[in-house]
Amino acid sequence: MMLARVRILLLWGLIVCPPLAAQFDEFYAEVPYVPTPEEVVRKMLEVAEVKKTDVVYDLGCGDGRIVIMAAKEFGARGVGVDINPERIREAEANARSAGVDGRVRFVESDLFKADIREASVVTIYLLSTVNLRLRPKLLKELKPGTRIVSHQFDMGEWAPLKKVEVGTRTLYLWTVPQQPPAFADGK
Ligand SMILES: C[S@@+](CC[C@H](N)C(=O)[O-])C[C@H]1O[C@@H](n2cnc3c(N)ncnc32)[C@H](O)[C@@H]1O
Repeated sequence: MMLARVRILLLWGLIVCPPLAAQFDEFYAEVPYVPTPEEVVRKMLEVAEVKKTDVVYDLGCGDGRIVIMAAKEFGARGVGVDINPERIREAEANARSAGVDGRVRFVESDLFKADIREASVVTIYLLSTVNLRLRPKLLKELKPGTRIVSHQFDMGEWAPLKKVEVGTRTLYLWTVPQQPPAFADGK
């Protein structure tokens, strides 16, 4: 009974108070917001060999810095996906300030539900556990040849093509193969 009252109060708070709702989203996001330093962003895009014809998707895009740099410095198009509406508003404002709002767009969505088929490059800065849950979606939905770069976290049994150290950070690169590899967990 007590628990039911607490739930009703919490829901009521979320409805009448949007800032509280944003914090609720942040709390329930699987990965906290920690931005990638600029020099590491540049290296991620270099490791993926991003070029003008690419469409770069950042899954969990935060303030949009990866797709904004992809557009501004590499001439690519970009799509950022984030579950937190505050991050999306911030990313849109940053893209306007950087003058690349015509080349990038931001989608408020759970990355597991996002349509990522258009991507030719995917960047992620998530967690090992989240990468492992994301791996089947990446292998199923992305075109063969799509490059994936992860900041700091690997994908378990899926061995990267390249591992690059940037100061204290590690970057991993994979290319989506024609045939998905067979993993012990069958996923
Ligand atoms: C570590 S930050 C990385 C931000 C940005 N990619 C960067 O490298 O600067 C992770 C981001 O993922 C977002 N996030 C966490 N869980 C998510 C989910 N299920 N769907 C979409 N975004 C999510 C968080 O809101 C946060 O902005």
